Amino acid sequence: MQIRDLKIKGKTFLAPLAGITNLPFRSLVKEYGCSVVCSEMVSAKGIFYNSEKTMTLMESTESEKPLSIQLFGSDPISLAKGARAVEDLNVADLIDINFGCSVKKVVKQGAGVALMKEPALTRRILTAVRQATHLPFTIKIRSGWDTSGDQAFKIAEIAQDCGVDAIALHPRTAGQAFRGHSNWDHIRQLKSRASIPVIGNGDILCPEDAVTMMDQTGCDAVMVGRAAMANPFILKQIDQYLETGTYQSPSNDDIFTAMERLVRLYVDYFGEQPACRMLRGRLSWFVKGLPNASVFRKNLTQIHTQNQALTLIRDFRATGFRGEVRFHE
Ligand SMILES: Cc1cc2nc3c(=O)[nH]c(=O)nc-3n(C[C@H](O)[C@H](O)[C@H](O)COP(=O)(O)O)c2cc1C
Repeated sequence: MQIRDLKIKGKTFLAPLAGITNLPFRSLVKEYGCSVVCSEMVSAKGIFYNSEKTMTLMESTESEKPLSIQLFGSDPISLAKGARAVEDLNVADLIDINFGCSVKKVVKQGAGVALMKEPALTRRILTAVRQATHLPFTIKIRSGWDTSGDQAFKIAEIAQDCGVDAIALHPRTAGQAFRGHSNWDHIRQLKSRASIPVIGNGDILCPEDAVTMMDQTGCDAVMVGRAAMANPFILKQIDQYLETGTYQSPSNDDIFTAMERLVRLYVDYFGEQPACRMLRGRLSWFVKGLPNASVFRKNLTQIHTQNQALTLIRDFRATGFRGEVRFHE
């Protein structure tokens, strides 16, 4: 597929996930295969004020490209300046604006899904951002504030008018957050109206779901969030399934190798102590469904060093813990 002048191999996008899609996690997903990775959402105001924490969120490596950096905010000037800064940093291949976040802290600032109630402001934001950057420019929206999908279609129409290059739709309402099911028919309706690429998102849990979404909606590509947190192989599996009609499932060994790789990537990037604190949660997702996963998780709460994390994974790999609680210093 192609977004503006960016040619993309494959049809899979890693969704932006605040607190999750940091550089090491994106690197892992990319190593296993994914067309486009997306950053966590980055505050346009934070870029404006040159906040160190915000700037860190935009760190990138050549090997993870193409990378989409997602900005959030509600002020056309800071979003445009943010977009220009992203372009000047030369880290991103795409800029995305968040029209979907329903977290209170974001909505209270008038950002995220709050923008979907503001067509005039949306037009000013998208015009300003379009003028500020030559990079391919996308937006990520929800269905809106009611179940009709009309707000999504309206925002998409404005976006097209303003020169936005592609739209990702997570078809849940603002009030749904992540409850209930996403309404893929909104993706179908958006695709039938849009002349720019549409990326379908929401509740893809396996490669079969991705193919079903594409068949039912005609969307140009798929975006996966939560399923990739536990299965970093899923985006590659989807591309394989789309290309060949079949895909490879990771063996338990592949899963343990991915866990070890994530430990190394986290420790290299965040430093040993902070990495281990974060890894206690991250690694626990990977073992869902494996025998004795609860024993592994219990041990995981005690890791403080890279060596402890790797030893734990190796023990689990070698013995499955056979039900005992064990921990190595
Ligand atoms: C922990 C978490 C963090 C998220 N952070 C963002 C974000 O920063 N920007 C955004 O547009 N969507 C965010 N989302 C929404 C996802 O990108 C995606 O739209 C949603 O999870 C539905 O896709 P899925 O069913 O594949 O998970 C987040 C979702 C979760 C669960």
